Amino acid sequence: MKHQPRIAVIGSANIDLVTYTDQFPRPGETIFGREFSLGFGGKGANQAVAARLCGAEVAMVARVGDDLFGPANIQNFAARGVNTSRVLPTPGVSSGVAPIFVDSLGQNRILVVKGANDRLSPADVDAAAAVLEGADFLVMQLEVPLETVYYALRFARQHGIRSILNPAPGQALDLAQVAHADYVIPNETEAEALAGMPVHNLEDARACAQKLLDGGVRRVIVTLGANGALCAAPDGMTHVPAFPVQPVDTTGAGDAFIGSLACFLAEGFAEMDAIARANLYAALSTLGAGTQKSFVTRQRLDAEWAVRGA
Ligand code: RIB
Repeated sequence: MKHQPRIAVIGSANIDLVTYTDQFPRPGETIFGREFSLGFGGKGANQAVAARLCGAEVAMVARVGDDLFGPANIQNFAARGVNTSRVLPTPGVSSGVAPIFVDSLGQNRILVVKGANDRLSPADVDAAAAVLEGADFLVMQLEVPLETVYYALRFARQHGIRSILNPAPGQALDLAQVAHADYVIPNETEAEALAGMPVHNLEDARACAQKLLDGGVRRVIVTLGANGALCAAPDGMTHVPAFPVQPVDTTGAGDAFIGSLACFLAEGFAEMDAIARANLYAALSTLGAGTQKSFVTRQRLDAEWAVRGA
């Protein structure tokens, strides 16, 4: 490793309740699902764990609920070596949970109940200043209040820390606030919500990224699943192809991409190299069931990269 990166994630921690099924019940109907799995999730937590598995020193800024999932989440971070000093138990509120349905093609449908994540405040960001200030990158998503995300983006800019915004789940945002981020990384659905135009293919992604750049966004990486990623900056756009795989479960692949990318960029890899490595890390995560459970170690990534990266 060139230099040990330091990443801080300000975001959500959920418990994922994953049901594997090919059919969905109609109103009033009961049907059987194939399998069930309980796991740690939340876009913020997933990105923190991915960055950690890739070798970064990681601090998490989050809120967990007043239920059995709260301490379990903190224990999970600690067991993975993530700094939990700013993961705050929050009285009188549930933890974030995500019922997730995965079909036989590995595609997911996710419903998030934000719970304690919705209590993460700008004051929590300020209170975490000591752990944030030494970071190479601050990483944020949208499962916590928008006010907090915008505040954290301004905090990063004021403190000269590079930032990544994953605008997920997709929603319309204030582009003037989003423009504080060094990287904005949506998938197709999230890009569509952000730019207000459909994104179904690479050409759409180019047009959408151009609209976001014209709106003041600094750099955009649109993740395109099996089509890889499009990196767009004022000086041009580059498509970075994906590594073909037969996915079992794509849940959390976007988080795997973002967490690993933050690590690789902070480590000093050139941008396109970092994106290609993050593409492989995300692809490998789809080969296992579950969210964090399917994320691989740096050792496994490097071994795969040695074979497939060239
Ligand atoms: O991106 C996948 C994640 O979205 C899941 O872990 C779920 O908790 C939701 O946050």
